[in-house]
Amino acid sequence: MRRFKTALLGMALTILTGCAYGHYLGLHGPSVKNFPDIHQDVTEDAACRECHAPTGDSTGPPTSHPNFTGCLKCHNGPPS
Ligand code: HEC
Ligand code: HEC
Repeated sequence: MRRFKTALLGMALTILTGCAYGHYLGLHGPSVKNFPDIHQDVTEDAACRECHAPTGDSTGPPTSHPNFTGCLKCHNGPPS
């Protein structure tokens, strides 16, 4: 029985992390071009973090992934 539970947990973990990866590898995030006037001339990750720190006390919506590098690789798509 114990082995069965371990196997089940392993499967659940694989599925969960699989989705999380697909999320970030397959999809680009919402584009900064949705708000061009706010994001004009912003190119540095450090600047992005100033307004999107996960603490929630900054101006923009908080990011779940403040430690990613190259914010604009994923957030510079066409506006939606
Ligand atoms: C001067 C502060 C500021 C800076 C710097 C800034 N942002 Fe924002 N950002 C905002 C605000 C405010 C909003 C929310 C606008 C709204 O919802 O009206 C926003 C919205 C967003 C959104 C959500 C777009 C959507 O459609 O939901 C993303 C993604 C984003 N910013 C990424 C970035 C990235 C990446 C950078 C760095 C290149 C950056 N921001 C730099 C203030 C900033
Ligand atoms: C590998 C691609 C990737 C990178 C790099 C990346 N992001 Fe994202 N980001 C996403 C995806 C996908 C979403 C939408 C799902 C989510 O909220 O987790 C998102 C969501 C966001 C949101 C939430 C927008 C909202 O409307 O709530 C903000 C803010 C944001 N990212 C900021 C940043 C900042 C700042 C950086 C750099 C430190 C960054 N992202 C780097 C892929 C990325």
